[in-house]
Amino acid sequence: MSKVSVPISNNFCPQTLFLFGTYKEDGTPNFGLFCWLSYIWDGELGVMACIGGEKLTKDRIRATGVFSANLVTEAILPLADYFGNTDGYSTDKMNVPVKTSRGAVLDVPILESSPLAFELEVAQSVSLHDGEVFLCRIRNVLVDEELADEEKSVEERIQAIAPVRTTCMTYFGWNGEALGKWGEPGQRIVKE
Ligand SMILES: Cc1cc2nc3c(=O)[nH]c(=O)nc-3n(C[C@H](O)[C@H](O)[C@H](O)COP(=O)(O)O)c2cc1C
Repeated sequence: MSKVSVPISNNFCPQTLFLFGTYKEDGTPNFGLFCWLSYIWDGELGVMACIGGEKLTKDRIRATGVFSANLVTEAILPLADYFGNTDGYSTDKMNVPVKTSRGAVLDVPILESSPLAFELEVAQSVSLHDGEVFLCRIRNVLVDEELADEEKSVEERIQAIAPVRTTCMTYFGWNGEALGKWGEPGQRIVKE
């Protein structure tokens, strides 16, 4: 098969999605949706995350030096999409039904409905022209008990949580079926 050059993008390269949780100045939680997260090695496993432009999540990570990254699954996709398409600077973004708790190690908000969360501490950051890359230490990984159940196979456990992947501005379920374009699932979220 011959190859063709196409415009630069990361289309057809699926990404895992995370909701980054930070505490606002008033102590209440805020969540934003992010896919530019990957892993680094520096004697131990770490995380790198890139945040483009100015947004509340970035302000709060800079101010506190910590955040949570909560894995997005099919069950929470509408909420995740809403958090990815609603500006944290708008006062009523968080007027939606969400149950949160505090991290086991860091003072970060954990989304109860996500089965896995990293508690992250920024070790170093790299400022770009319009973005910033945060290099983070993973201070804790908090999971639902069912994910830690070694009696079940990895296949059974990952199928039970069904992480969402995204590419081409479209969400995909764990079995590969399309679950809507960016901005669509979040329309089902009703504000309080
Ligand atoms: C599917 C999806 C993935 C996103 N990934 C990123 C990302 O990796 N980096 C980024 O800077 N913004 C990303 N965004 C945009 C943020 O989620 C959006 O700016 C949101 O308002 C951030 O929350 P905040 O305003 O409360 O900080 C993404 C949005 C969507 C819909």
